Amino acid sequence: MSTSVNALGHELSLLDIHPVAGNIGAEVRGVRLSPDLDDALFAQIEAALIKYKVLFFRQQQHLTDETHQAFGARFGKIVPHPTVPAPGNSKLFELDASKGGGRADSWHTDVTFVDAFPKISILRGVTIPAYGGDTVWANTAAAYEQLPEALKRFAESLRAVHSNDYDYGAERTVTEAHRLEHHQKVFVSSVWEAEHPLVHVHPVSGERALLLGHFFKRLVGFSSKESAKIFELLQNRITRLENTVRWQWQQDDVAIWDNRTTQHYAVNDYGNQPRLVRRVTVEGERAVAVDGSHSRTLVSPVEQAQKVA
Ligand SMILES: [Fe+2]
Repeated sequence: MSTSVNALGHELSLLDIHPVAGNIGAEVRGVRLSPDLDDALFAQIEAALIKYKVLFFRQQQHLTDETHQAFGARFGKIVPHPTVPAPGNSKLFELDASKGGGRADSWHTDVTFVDAFPKISILRGVTIPAYGGDTVWANTAAAYEQLPEALKRFAESLRAVHSNDYDYGAERTVTEAHRLEHHQKVFVSSVWEAEHPLVHVHPVSGERALLLGHFFKRLVGFSSKESAKIFELLQNRITRLENTVRWQWQQDDVAIWDNRTTQHYAVNDYGNQPRLVRRVTVEGERAVAVDGSHSRTLVSPVEQAQKVA
């Protein structure tokens, strides 16, 4: 049992924690995730999540779509994806590699094309390939901390537009027409845009973190070429290997990440093997900049529909 105290002063004595990498990610052993978890244990999981950014739990085969969602609801309101239809009557986001949109193989923070993007994502490995298909997470707070002071101040002064209608094809090394078509038809079935501070302050820990990833479209006040160059500079800082953890999935694993201080990338190296994972997503708040200003919505199909109605 670990007796470590995390950055917020919480003792994590109820958890058997095994860090997987030096700057992000820990496996928690001996916990059976469930909606009925004891309050004290749940509070330590929440605290450990803020400290380690992503937690891994093996052998959660007892979880169903229902209990997965009910467990997620312990963290807050669970929300469906804004554009991708959920399976059945659920609020799940399903990534099925056999379907066009099921391979999240570029670096991103989930759903940053809305102003109040999710705070936590909980991913369950339903069907895992025999080899390949790892997921990698990066620590965006560590990336900020490692910046030279001058670059920190510059980054803090920037605001960025994120959209689900980003250049999806540009991320692909091999152009797969059916994936592009699926992306355009389903993922971008309605266009969303939000403006975020490039550096935001974590609402619980107070840590500062870089907010970028593949939904980034442009920087406010810069040309698209300049935006792309500045994006590359800072995004490369986030994905330095030292800031990452790579998880080799087994069937029935669960990964929970703090979406406010991480990006992730699903490695697309498993060919035609089946891979099916389901995600429960917990509603977040608008990001807060160092100067106290918030993220804001630029384009929302919901608001547009309300204006018309
Ligand atoms: Fe994702």
